[in-house]
Amino acid sequence: MARKKLNIGLIGYGFMGRAHSNAYAQVNKFFDLGYEPVLKAACARKEDKLKPFAENWGWESMESDWRKLIARDDIDVVDISVPNNLHRDIAVAAAQAGKMILCEKPLAMNAAEGLEMTEAVEKAGVANMVWFNYRRVPAISLAKQLIDEGRLGRIFHYRAKYLQDWTINENVPLGGQTLWRLDIDAAGSGVTGDLLAHSIDTAIWLIGGVDKVCGMTETFVKERELQDQPGVRMPVGIDDACAFLAKFKNGALSTFESTRYARGRKNQNTFEVNGEHGSLYFDLEDAHQLQYYDNRLDSHVHGWQTILVTDFEHPYMNKYWVPGCTIGYEHTFINALADFIKGLDTGVPVRPNFRDALETQRVCDAALKSAKTEKWEKVQG
Ligand SMILES: NC(=O)c1ccc[n+]([C@@H]2O[C@H](COP(=O)([O-])OP(=O)(O)OC[C@H]3O[C@@H](n4cnc5c(N)ncnc54)[C@H](O)[C@@H]3O)[C@@H](O)[C@H]2O)c1
Repeated sequence: MARKKLNIGLIGYGFMGRAHSNAYAQVNKFFDLGYEPVLKAACARKEDKLKPFAENWGWESMESDWRKLIARDDIDVVDISVPNNLHRDIAVAAAQAGKMILCEKPLAMNAAEGLEMTEAVEKAGVANMVWFNYRRVPAISLAKQLIDEGRLGRIFHYRAKYLQDWTINENVPLGGQTLWRLDIDAAGSGVTGDLLAHSIDTAIWLIGGVDKVCGMTETFVKERELQDQPGVRMPVGIDDACAFLAKFKNGALSTFESTRYARGRKNQNTFEVNGEHGSLYFDLEDAHQLQYYDNRLDSHVHGWQTILVTDFEHPYMNKYWVPGCTIGYEHTFINALADFIKGLDTGVPVRPNFRDALETQRVCDAALKSAKTEKWEKVQG
């Protein structure tokens, strides 16, 4: 089938630059879509670093200033894969230039910036998506399907954890090209925006909006050496760990916990949902499985069942291999991109869009505020 061209301009060649480049190259190998992404231009400040990346992934051209990339007539979609402090300026400029936007999470440094971005894309009427890729893990999409089918009934509880351990060593420096996540001015927050934003997006998608939160944060290592200036030390402004209680609008009680100090946990992203008729449990470290407890079965066969989410009837899986064969982390980005392009094909816009990500940002802001005020905080908006 003849596909229309979708010219992509990618900003940032790091972790997400690679994940997205792979998705552009692979998406129509597995999905049969109306648009073909063209790797038109990649942008980063340093040409010597960008060049091997661009050659490896097949980007046709390079730019060293994102403003020039946005000004190009041959770019349809701007992909924001840079640290969080750049999201707002790039997104607002891209929207004003009439470009479609694919933005990495968290949407922004805070909800005020996120609102500006959301209003800019809505005013411009441009297609927009935020890469909350975990929605596209087939087992999580299946959890959404089971909840929407009413299999859990009324939801009482949601319990989310997102745990890592890579900043325990106090000699890990701060800032610079690779450790901007530890720099409050580049990241906006610590684990709250980096990790809990994922957990919150998944939770809102699965069970609905959050009414209020009560949280606490801690910064275990108070001062670190700057990566770019050895010998110079700076106070650490990010939250190393964050835990909060949340009351959902539907009345569900919930807990969220995240840290980079859980020794042995590399990227453990879990949730459990408890409803009137059943429960679900997911762990990213066993990403192809969904645990399901169905209380409506006869009582002598009650028990948790493990659904191996690899069958053709499971979300996305009929696009890949035969039942029993698993897919990986990178496929969640391919699935997200396929959904974005399907939205262009059908005219039904993809979710999560900027407004959805703004809702998540507001929960992050409320959790951080509550940690300061030591009080329950309403989620704004
Ligand atoms: N969806 C996910 O699961 C996921 C995972 C990791 C990161 N992220 C998000 O993706 C974004 C990027 O994170 P990453 O891990 O890829 O970071 P990274 O450090 O690996 O890469 C960042 C890139 O941005 C480039 N950059 C920095 N300033 C620039 C500028 N002024 N102009 C052009 N390029 C610039 C850097 O050169 C680098 O190529 C962040 O918002 C992060 O939160 C999302």
